[in-house]
Amino acid sequence: MLEVGSHVKLQHFVTVKDLHDDQVMALIERAIYFKNGGSVPQFERPVYAVNMFFENSTRTHCSFEMAERKLGLQTIPFDPAASSVRKGETLYDTLLSLNAIGINLAIMRHQENEYYKELIELKTTQKLDIGVVNAGDGSGQHPSQSLLDMMTIYEQFGKFKNLKVAIIGDLSNSRVARSNMQLLNKLGATVFFAGPSYWYSKEFEEYGEYLEIDELVSQVDVVMLLRVQHERHADESGFSAERYHRQYGLTVERYKQLKKNTIIMHPGPINRGVEIDSELVEAPKSRFVKQMQNGVYMRMAMLEAVIAGRHLGGL
Ligand code: CP
Repeated sequence: MLEVGSHVKLQHFVTVKDLHDDQVMALIERAIYFKNGGSVPQFERPVYAVNMFFENSTRTHCSFEMAERKLGLQTIPFDPAASSVRKGETLYDTLLSLNAIGINLAIMRHQENEYYKELIELKTTQKLDIGVVNAGDGSGQHPSQSLLDMMTIYEQFGKFKNLKVAIIGDLSNSRVARSNMQLLNKLGATVFFAGPSYWYSKEFEEYGEYLEIDELVSQVDVVMLLRVQHERHADESGFSAERYHRQYGLTVERYKQLKKNTIIMHPGPINRGVEIDSELVEAPKSRFVKQMQNGVYMRMAMLEAVIAGRHLGGL
């Protein structure tokens, strides 16, 4: 069960679904504290972490590693391609081995939705004692991306209530969309969806209305673009980057219609000229770089929450 308090304490950090809004705010405040140069906890004993990325990553992987270094954790290298997972060892047995070696925290990205369940919902005969931090599971959750997105929105507007947020693009494959729609609803923002209508399905209806991008751009406070996940589409023969950009992308024309204080976000990696015009990536309203900067501090706050929840390093 999650604890509520000024400092968040968790056994694992695998989803945003169970977070209370005051926990989200505590994590944002803690991340801003770290960003402003606040001191990091002093561990009495070393805390050992391993980053296990079974799917490709630049931002999340390097950002977690930076967060670990800034917190003073000891990070043990792990290369999935060279690991015994390639010989058929299960994720559970892999963590059992790493735990036996002395690892306390596993930061993991995996292509299977809810891969983490078998690692945290243990049978009475299982003794695994390792904190799992989800760095993205299939099309399920991306808690660290979602929380750094909330931090970026909060820094801009100082609130969530009554903000209008458009989530645009490859909804069906997006763990970012799922995590963000859940947190934004919880925090009082109004969510809209846009992009190809065949990527909007029933599961999104309870979180927000689907509208055409041209109905939204002049109204919303946040334009959250999603990457077209080419690697997850079985048949791309009919896909045209130019047509997608014209119909659903943030073009220069649409950018000009945004309100004065509206911000643009994108989790990355960006398909330039598809979701967004290449020249808008670093435009004044774009928070793409800020999101990546904030990610380091939010991941420090998330790791600290699990370290504190498991009383590691004397915390
Ligand atoms: N936003 C994100 O998850 O990027 P990476 O896949 O590069 O980690």
